[in-house]
Amino acid sequence: MKQIILFLAFLMATSAAAQPTIAKYGASPLEVSSKKEWKKSVRPAILHFFEQEVYGKVPEKQPTVEFRVIGQGEAFGGKVLRREVEMTIGGTTKALVLMYLPAQRKGKVPVFLGMNFKGNHQIAPDTEITISPNAPQGKELGNDPERGAAASRWPVEMITEAGYGVVTLYRGDIDPDFDDGFQNGIHPHFYAEGQTKPLADEWGTIGAWAWSLSRVMDYLCKDSDIDHKHVAVIGHSRLGKTALWAGAQDERFAMVVSNDSGCGGAALSARRHGETVAKINKAFPHWFCDNYNNYNDREHALPIDQQGLIALIAPRPVYVASASLDDWADPEGEFLSALYASPIYELYGKPSLLGKPFPNVGESYGEGSVGYHLREGKHDITAWDWQRYIRFADKHFFGK
Ligand code: GCU
Repeated sequence: MKQIILFLAFLMATSAAAQPTIAKYGASPLEVSSKKEWKKSVRPAILHFFEQEVYGKVPEKQPTVEFRVIGQGEAFGGKVLRREVEMTIGGTTKALVLMYLPAQRKGKVPVFLGMNFKGNHQIAPDTEITISPNAPQGKELGNDPERGAAASRWPVEMITEAGYGVVTLYRGDIDPDFDDGFQNGIHPHFYAEGQTKPLADEWGTIGAWAWSLSRVMDYLCKDSDIDHKHVAVIGHSRLGKTALWAGAQDERFAMVVSNDSGCGGAALSARRHGETVAKINKAFPHWFCDNYNNYNDREHALPIDQQGLIALIAPRPVYVASASLDDWADPEGEFLSALYASPIYELYGKPSLLGKPFPNVGESYGEGSVGYHLREGKHDITAWDWQRYIRFADKHFFGK
């Protein structure tokens, strides 16, 4: 009995130690007195909160991850080099990583790394792209694998002409995007003996996707063509939530871009504008950890809001973008969260969004280390967005 009481006291002390430093923030600006306080206590407590309560933590048991270059060739009339890398997780799960690098490169190439929605072959009208192992194809699409169907979201020529590479993989190769009880993605590779689904504080699908971006980063660090000190992790919508979480946890990502990531991404949950925590957990019960349900219609109980996620990226440059007709993702909530994370950037002497108003449609802020723009139009990622991300990378990576 005495041992149980001591153990409970220990548990209360450790969880209490993690909470108080952030409990005061809710949806407000992050005012922290020093860089030291931020690094030593506030940042670890915020990271712990997001691991424990929102995206879920990665289990300790890790499977093997192997990489093999399976092919290489010319694309876009010889202007671009295509390289494909097979990633094998736990000996059986295969994911394909597609890389496009400028053919005329001088030295190592900085890259944008992001997941795609429907398969690598959809990002460009390049018939040589190997179809991602789990992508919808064949019968489902009437034998038309829809090559290049998402090309408007991936302006490969523009990106490579600017000197950057594009690296992508299909979300469904890592974890299919539906509630399958976590049986057919990578989760089972991480189960302990007898475990059949993640625990309440263990990762969901977004956590698994973010983990895979870090594994691709492991590969990029070994590829001699890649400038791995300048890898920007990027994503649109649910994959923008993923990019933010990947960038928050893995400090090797030198820049993070969130495009229209909305609820559970950049947007402040407490505003309850557009999608809410309850709505997202109901429609996509597999995205977050089970603990996140504790905040359904209880956003006021969140000790810290999504500005905490953005602040975890500091002092690395972060860019949050919204679209004017994307009310579901709450553009103003996305802006405010980047603004409320800004004081942490200022602690590091980095200019941010502090003092800036919510911009007009078509305006961008790219000078400081916290970027933001409000594009005219609907929920999407377009060349207009990419132009700004490239400009932001040019400035913050290379001082151009
Ligand atoms: C739905 C979902 C959003 C998500 C979006 C997307 O709209 O409610 O949270 O960002 O899908 O990924 O396109």
